[in-house]
Amino acid sequence: MILHSILDGIGKTPIVSLSRLFGESRCEVLAKLEMFNPGGSIKDRPAHYIIERGLADGSISPKSHIIESSSGNFAIALAMVCRMRGLRFTAVVDPKLSPVNCQIIQCYGGNIELVTERDRQGGYLETRIERVKHMLREQPDAVWTNQYANERNWQSHYNGEGEEILRDLDQPVDYLVLGVSTSGTIHGITRRLREAWPGLKVIPVDAFGSVLFGTQPAVRELPGLGASRVPELLKRDELGQVIHVDDYESAIACRQLVKHEGIFAGGSSGSVIAAIQRFSAHLLKPARFLTILPDRGERYLDTVYNDQWLLRMKERHFARISKQFTDTPLAQTV
Ligand SMILES: Cc1ncc(COP(=O)(O)O)c(C=O)c1O
Repeated sequence: MILHSILDGIGKTPIVSLSRLFGESRCEVLAKLEMFNPGGSIKDRPAHYIIERGLADGSISPKSHIIESSSGNFAIALAMVCRMRGLRFTAVVDPKLSPVNCQIIQCYGGNIELVTERDRQGGYLETRIERVKHMLREQPDAVWTNQYANERNWQSHYNGEGEEILRDLDQPVDYLVLGVSTSGTIHGITRRLREAWPGLKVIPVDAFGSVLFGTQPAVRELPGLGASRVPELLKRDELGQVIHVDDYESAIACRQLVKHEGIFAGGSSGSVIAAIQRFSAHLLKPARFLTILPDRGERYLDTVYNDQWLLRMKERHFARISKQFTDTPLAQTV
């Protein structure tokens, strides 16, 4: 097959059975490998869809300056798509930006706009959004893709992975287990699959320390999963009971994934694997699971695949567990 451009390579992602990792559990676990997308992650899909649909309906023109508050996979994906469509792109980032991601965005020709002032919460999220709004006021050609509120985000997954899964699987799965950040992925795939499989149960996976499902904010280091504000797109009543996974549990599961399956994946891939391990251990009969592995491991060499970092996360993990235990009244433990 000869592709017209690299953008036509978006979405050609395989489904793999994780039978070596889950062989003993009697459960079947299928994983769709979104790391096979040309920009290296699942975020190629919303970036491509938002830009193409915008160009088609005129809300984006060849003169537009695309702006997004992101320093991660979405910014990289937008930089790639904008390069191919001849659009200017600026990623509004903060000092927590990983140097590798900064370089990748720049290699694609994207600009970096760095904010350094902290917001009222002590983070940078509000400052970044303020900078985006300032750029929109100052530059008539500026367009904010706004992945947390843009309906085309979930639609890209509905028409993308949702459609492909139904094409590739001839039997329904019992459980769909997916990581959540903007919620575009989980809503898009769930809405499409439930049209064909109305009984599908959906388990969202969030990072410990994220506020998406009403829990308290806490320090978390892995990007990709979770959020420090609730996205406009998130519709809690469409999803099942959430499973929270911390950085240490995610990293351990990533290392199991590479050891048993030869899949070198990013942090949130470990999060969904850890969630399935925890959930399936309580099942009375075998079940069929489907999950998504959103990106590759290279962007996590300083974290998930670094032993010193892992040790730090291990200490934090056990400190949290023992605090939880000592905070629980005795009556609730017996
Ligand atoms: C690296 C990465 N990208 C994207 C996603 C999907 O998140 P969203 O809810 O923003 O579609 C996840 C979720 O696990 C992720 O880990």
